Amino acid sequence: MHSLDSSLCPMIFATLVSFFLTLSHSLTLQSDIEALQALKLSVDPNMIPPSSYLTTWDFSVDPCDNIGPKFLGILCSSPSNNSKSRITTLELDGAGYDGFLPPRIGTLTELTSLDLSRNRFRGPLPDALKNLNKLTKLSLSGNFFTGGIWTWIYRLKKVERIDLSENCLSGRIPARISKLRRLTQLSLSKNEFSERIPNIYALQKLQILDLDSNMLIGSLPKLPPRLRTLRLSHNKLTGHITSLVNLDHLISVDVSDNWFTGPINRGVLALPRLSHLNVSFNQFTKMEVNNYFGSGSRLRTLDAQRNHLRGHLPVKLVNFERLEVINLAHNQFTGQIPMAYGQRLGRPWRTLFLDYNFLSGRIPPEFGPVAVRIRGSLANNCLSCPLRIPLCRGQQRHASACHGVTDG
Ligand SMILES: *[C@@H]1O[C@H](CO)[C@@H](O)[C@H](O)[C@H]1NC(C)=O
Ligand SMILES: *[C@@H]1O[C@H](CO)[C@@H](O)[C@H](O)[C@H]1NC(C)=O
Repeated sequence: MHSLDSSLCPMIFATLVSFFLTLSHSLTLQSDIEALQALKLSVDPNMIPPSSYLTTWDFSVDPCDNIGPKFLGILCSSPSNNSKSRITTLELDGAGYDGFLPPRIGTLTELTSLDLSRNRFRGPLPDALKNLNKLTKLSLSGNFFTGGIWTWIYRLKKVERIDLSENCLSGRIPARISKLRRLTQLSLSKNEFSERIPNIYALQKLQILDLDSNMLIGSLPKLPPRLRTLRLSHNKLTGHITSLVNLDHLISVDVSDNWFTGPINRGVLALPRLSHLNVSFNQFTKMEVNNYFGSGSRLRTLDAQRNHLRGHLPVKLVNFERLEVINLAHNQFTGQIPMAYGQRLGRPWRTLFLDYNFLSGRIPPEFGPVAVRIRGSLANNCLSCPLRIPLCRGQQRHASACHGVTDG
């Protein structure tokens, strides 16, 4: 009996030891666990709602052990050999987490995606983020991050999408951002970025550039050739938009509410894929459509309201086959409404604002009472515009304001 005991015990002991070893021996690299702990600790516990991802982060189990609804918001690598699991994705829910981004986050060096959007993270973006050089997606939009954008951003060599929109970031956009050659999307809208847009022509893959609602100044730099979406509205940009004529992948352009001057070039209106053009609230003086015949154009929306556009209304607008929404209100157009406009009303034009100009003379008969349903206005011009016609609702200008323009 005794001898049996003593021969058995060591075996049981050995099994128990190895059992405990596997339990305490976590799958996940210890420093990755510590980074997750630091992140959770940096969030105000009162701002972690019961049904949120962070509530499921229970460190009595291993983050990369697949055991039910634990550690929501992370993905791990599962190495085939004996090495440790690493966190590869950290995408939190927008639960309103209120906290700081701890520098420890920089030890998650296998991260390919970091998304903390729609929360209340505050303070500067820690320098340690520069170690995340495998990131392809960085989204911190809709938080309260402050401070500048970092000159080390160029170290995130693999990044394809950066979204830092809706924060309180300020300072200049570093020119080194142009070293991120894989970038397809750069969204920095609704921040307080100032100074000029740096030269980012080298971003040959960039498709979406959104710098809307900042305090950017200066003229447009040469922009990357593959841009599809360009949003620059609500800044203080100056100069001409002529350089856009080379960007023939553009589908949507919004440069509204800036200080741009000069013409709305025929080359811009002729961009082959352009569908949406908003140049409103600027100081453009001329709209060049006359030599371009528009057929094959994809333009649907043209908003050029509140500029200083002069001369006659562009007759050739009728040749833009898909045009539906036209706003040329609050400009200085003179002369008659082209007869050809009548034939486009409702087919396909469904919105036509020409109010607050100096248009004169009679309106085309199609604008009459039986005219198709269309949104728009011809008010505040110098037209003879019978009030029974829906588009004529509202006053025309007083005769004194029309002096000298009614001959057109
Ligand atoms: C284990 O695999 C990972 C990638 O899957 C690799 O980075 C690491 O070097 C490997 N470790 C060993 C000890 O082979
Ligand atoms: C164009 O931009 C102005 C100002 O940003 C905005 O008010 C307007 O709704 C936009 N037009 C269209 C058609 O989206």
